[in-house]
Amino acid sequence: MKDNGTHLYPNEHVSEKVTDYAFEHSTKLPDYITKHHAWGSDQPKAGFMISPFQTQFQIWFAKALGAKRILEIGCYIGFSALGFSEAVGPDGHVTTLEFDPEYAQIARETFEKNGVKNVEVIVGDANKSIPELALAIDQPYDLIFIDADKISYPNYLALILSLSTSTSQVRLLKSGGTIMADNILRRGVVADRSASNPNATPEELSTEKGGRAEQLVALDRFNKELVQNERLETFLLPLFDGLGMGRLKD
Ligand SMILES: C[S@@+](CC[C@H](N)C(=O)[O-])C[C@H]1O[C@@H](n2cnc3c(N)ncnc32)[C@H](O)[C@@H]1O
Repeated sequence: MKDNGTHLYPNEHVSEKVTDYAFEHSTKLPDYITKHHAWGSDQPKAGFMISPFQTQFQIWFAKALGAKRILEIGCYIGFSALGFSEAVGPDGHVTTLEFDPEYAQIARETFEKNGVKNVEVIVGDANKSIPELALAIDQPYDLIFIDADKISYPNYLALILSLSTSTSQVRLLKSGGTIMADNILRRGVVADRSASNPNATPEELSTEKGGRAEQLVALDRFNKELVQNERLETFLLPLFDGLGMGRLKD
């Protein structure tokens, strides 16, 4: 019987070669998206952005779903939103939520500079913006991408589900819609906190108030609530930093 291990990555060298090969053999990103990533890579919080390789996947996936309306929770400087904008096309719509007004401003300027007209940025705490948005929209979203503060992941999931029922007056995510959450493996530490995992550093495991262990607990809780919810069919994709995927059945 075949086991579940992919055995693609026996070491870092092969891992990098395979990833580079996969990147080169997937549909090329438009230049304006690549250029924004290059610019963002020189900024202090460059690590906030998903990778170009993940962007290739997300554009492909959103197009394969036929998504025309996408909600993103966590915009930063608008890099992943550019990918979603490309995926939905000019007649589609992307709403992206961002806490920090300065990041939101950079994202808006980026969209304007590149002639991107189908993305709306909402500034504020997404825990508040999501219920307000649900009341304001006239059509539900096809895809919701969660990529903001990790502590709030369980609440984002609870909000999406409670605002997307057949009996509620509002509908945030359509029936059959997809939830996709980034960083749910946290460089493997969510699955393996043992000393065998070099990413399980004392800083990552810090249980001090506000320490990163709180985020690990929230991510593990999110992963469990995703798979255990009977309204969802799920798949945890152990690619990139881990993508949690759920399809809303009702
Ligand atoms: C990982 S970054 C998003 C990166 C972006 N999706 C990309 O790949 O280009 C997370 C962003 O979420 C924002 N954020 C954190 N907490 C938030 C909250 N409660 N509501 C809205 N945005 C929040 C942060 O300011 C940060 O810009």
